[in-house]
Amino acid sequence: MGHKQTDDAREETDNYQQDRFWNGPAGQLWVSSHEETERHTGPFGDVALLAAAPAPGERSLDVGCGCGTTTLALARSVGATGDVVGVDLSSIMLDRAMELAAAAKLTNVVFRRLDAQTAPLGRHVFDLVFSRFGVMFFADPTAAFTNLRASLRPSGRLAFACWQVPSANPWMALPSRAALQFFGLTAPPHDAPGPFSLADPDRLRRVLTDAGFNDIDITPEIRTLTLALGHSLDNWVHERLLMGLAGEIYANSSVEIQSRARQLLISSVEPYQVEDGLEMSGASWIVTARP
Ligand SMILES: C[S@@+](CC[C@H](N)C(=O)[O-])C[C@H]1O[C@@H](n2cnc3c(N)ncnc32)[C@H](O)[C@@H]1O
Repeated sequence: MGHKQTDDAREETDNYQQDRFWNGPAGQLWVSSHEETERHTGPFGDVALLAAAPAPGERSLDVGCGCGTTTLALARSVGATGDVVGVDLSSIMLDRAMELAAAAKLTNVVFRRLDAQTAPLGRHVFDLVFSRFGVMFFADPTAAFTNLRASLRPSGRLAFACWQVPSANPWMALPSRAALQFFGLTAPPHDAPGPFSLADPDRLRRVLTDAGFNDIDITPEIRTLTLALGHSLDNWVHERLLMGLAGEIYANSSVEIQSRARQLLISSVEPYQVEDGLEMSGASWIVTARP
């Protein structure tokens, strides 16, 4: 197992903002709330893994692998005769991924810190390119998917989960919209790098087609998410604010402003309150394609 630091993503590339974001407080928060995040992203990832069907002996790439949960799942599926490379921009999250791989005593997995859009990934080396919510942050998605396709063997396949539109994902969209409103910011364009950049299935299909993929299948996966379990609502909205579009402004605001922002968010999610948390729907696409 190894963890090779590269400087590729440190330069002022198009994905520099993402690099800053995922290596900053949001990445730290992602690590500290890993178990809770797993509760709501896990089931979507399981469906994507089923669609990916990793088989013993295969080589897989896990794109935007974060803390490595799906990288380890892939490693178990491909077994000792296969292997998995988990790639991500975030050192903080990769460190956690390496700890988990070591604790699981998996020796067929390596992690690399790199920008999956621009870094050389090898040519025709993987049977499977997989991602759970790690492919929506590229400044140039067509270039990124072209790079990913080049890494696939001709007989290989792509499988990933990405989020549907904000209105189908109130658990992310409501806090984000309330924060933008509170801080007087304009929402970014719907196709800007971020969780919803591939939400429009026509755009998603076009990006993959332009990147050279065939046999593209886009299937909806919709679930009810139970959020803020075991958290105070105040703490949950605090985390959503830090991870959201206004995260940096919120983090640098006074305690009083932060508290007012949280109050606004709490009122925006009140209709979704249940006894032990919040119940909100989440909707993803499960995408498969061939190079
Ligand atoms: C929403 S998180 C998902 C993490 C993980 N796959 C999971 O399901 O828990 C998105 C991940 O994509 C990574 N990421 C964003 N842009 C990237 C890029 N250009 N190259 C590699 N990783 C990237 C981020 O650092 C982050 O870890």
